[in-house]
Amino acid sequence: MWQESFLLEGKGIMTQEPERRHSDEGAEAKASIKSYRQHFTTYTKIPPVGRPREEILAELEQMQALEAARWRAGYASGAVYSGAEDHVEFLNKVYAVHSQSNPLHADLWPSAIKFESEIVSMTAAMLGADKSGAEPGTPGEICGTVSSGGTESILLAMKAYRDFAREKKGVTKPEMIAPTTAHAAFDKAAQYFNIDIVRIPVDEAFRADVGATEKAITDNTVVLVGSAPQFPHGVVDPIEELSELARSRGIGFHTDGCLGGFLLPWAERLGYDVPPFDFRLPGVTSISADTHKFGYAAKGTSVVLYRGHELRHYQYFMTTEWPGGLYCSPSFAGSRPGALSAVCWAAMVSIGEEGYLENARRILETTAKMRKGVAEIPELELFGESLFITAFGSRELDIYKVMDAMSERGWSLNGLH
Ligand SMILES: Cc1ncc(COP(=O)(O)O)c(C=O)c1O
Repeated sequence: MWQESFLLEGKGIMTQEPERRHSDEGAEAKASIKSYRQHFTTYTKIPPVGRPREEILAELEQMQALEAARWRAGYASGAVYSGAEDHVEFLNKVYAVHSQSNPLHADLWPSAIKFESEIVSMTAAMLGADKSGAEPGTPGEICGTVSSGGTESILLAMKAYRDFAREKKGVTKPEMIAPTTAHAAFDKAAQYFNIDIVRIPVDEAFRADVGATEKAITDNTVVLVGSAPQFPHGVVDPIEELSELARSRGIGFHTDGCLGGFLLPWAERLGYDVPPFDFRLPGVTSISADTHKFGYAAKGTSVVLYRGHELRHYQYFMTTEWPGGLYCSPSFAGSRPGALSAVCWAAMVSIGEEGYLENARRILETTAKMRKGVAEIPELELFGESLFITAFGSRELDIYKVMDAMSERGWSLNGLH
């Protein structure tokens, strides 16, 4: 089983270094596509006559065997969250059973609606819905939707804040405030939805600067953002202070729990010191949490949660004028893979609290060992406090050479800059 996220930080390296890294990665990607061309049939047109299924399956299995060798030993950072063979086999069976399901046709596949509403309820319960002060079954309750991944959850929430502020407050030039370390998906949301993103600095411990956030608030601010934790260093922002600031100014607050949403609650239950980040904080008005990361579902699902139906309503799309009929969809896609929701639901229900706690225990213990190991190497420097990310750099060594040396030893690390 994949046990830990292991990130490599390149801070302190000369500025041309990241560019070198990007061009190296580009060259590597091109080389591996080329090698696929050499070993497997390349199609530029639909073949005139279909190929035998057994032949296709054999080719696909060959590719998967080559690729699995790169991550199965558990040395790949942030790519596979549970590679346990029995778990993956079980998820594959569930996918096969529901492969035709499409939640857009709820009349044909009511099971997809059951799976998604239960995924949302289970995630909300894990993230403090019952201590949120919001009454279940009322319009203020914690609610949400299933999306295709962390990025979509973030995009949906940012669109909801933009449209809410436009309608309720007349904001026509929306701004969001996010620490520099918040995921690139917030930049994507800003570009897609024409929202100005104001990036605020982080302190020496890589935590968002609350004072700078306060100064950046204007009448156009539609949402403040904090991460639990952020991707680069695995550090949790001061969510309590940030969300309280947002609440005191009547602004929404989004916790990006894409990475930590399915791990921090279990860490807290195991007795680790986890700063508050979920709906127990009254200022937190939305959370993204990825089932396809530490929820151990197959790739392609995440959950976005809201404090109250009203805010969620602004992520929905509906048109009544289209000749094709009344059309509404809760997220960006129209037709969606209901099988992935079945798989996600089955992952959560089969693992159970006991399984999540046990996985969390192993991940946190392994991370502590790795961090200790890095701390003992004098040329390396750990960045930030984190329960399950090991981010490090060096002021003496070329960190990208360290990364290359680790790659030769079978590790696949994330190079940051
Ligand atoms: C903190 C955080 N937010 C958002 C995302 C985006 O998630 P996805 O790749 O599923 O779109 C990630 C991905 O690693 C993340 O770590």
